[in-house]
Amino acid sequence: MSSWVSGLAGRFIVFDGIDGSGKSTQLRRLVSACTEDGVRVCQVREPGGTTVGERIREILLDRTQEGMTLRCEMLLYMASRVQLVEEKIRPALDRRELVLADRFVSSTLAYQGSAGGISRDDILAVARVAIGPTWPDLVVIFDVDPASASRRTKGVERGKGRGVRPAGSSLFDDRIEQRGDAYQAKVRQGFLEQAAADPDRYLLIDGTAPEDDVWEALVKGLRARFARS
Ligand code: TYD
Repeated sequence: MSSWVSGLAGRFIVFDGIDGSGKSTQLRRLVSACTEDGVRVCQVREPGGTTVGERIREILLDRTQEGMTLRCEMLLYMASRVQLVEEKIRPALDRRELVLADRFVSSTLAYQGSAGGISRDDILAVARVAIGPTWPDLVVIFDVDPASASRRTKGVERGKGRGVRPAGSSLFDDRIEQRGDAYQAKVRQGFLEQAAADPDRYLLIDGTAPEDDVWEALVKGLRARFARS
């Protein structure tokens, strides 16, 4: 077993970034590497990942929910998260599995906080109630500019069961995606600020590089933090 992979057992790692940052592709690569090397992985995504969470996800991403207030939106993301932490994440950590989460509190801080306007203190206060001591060991941010990201998301749709998306179409955008590039730019800035403020807990990776280079940067970062000597 590679030492960097074995060092991941029992850790909680979050992948985050703006829509179209390429985080999900890298997450799949890491899951394969771990599985091949015998480290058990619990993979979760937000919002959703539980029966209750998937119902909350439908409301959150439904384009017809135009009247949802920002604080209601924030609390729904957090409600989905509580269920995920209690039902999936904590038990998996107790079993010494690697928990890999596609988004977590870092997304709420960036989307509803930096871009939406809710204060960091308010979001963290709710997060403390919601997740208790279950904070990630590491948050990996895949950084891309909104223009490249939106080219990716508006190209061929990958595996969300919504068929092929015509390039440049917004017909398939969910409630959050339809907020456009200016909103995404603020979200990106939010992620960059989080990473700069807490370099021990965050790993910032250039997501515009070719996929293999992004993977290499990810492995290097994980090795530096978790490899067993
Ligand atoms: P999803 O289709 O899962 O997007 P992605 O594949 O990019 O993760 O949709 C999740 C959307 O919800 C995405 O636009 C980001 C947004 N979001 C928030 O606004 N706040 C949050 O706390 C979370 C977890 C997600």
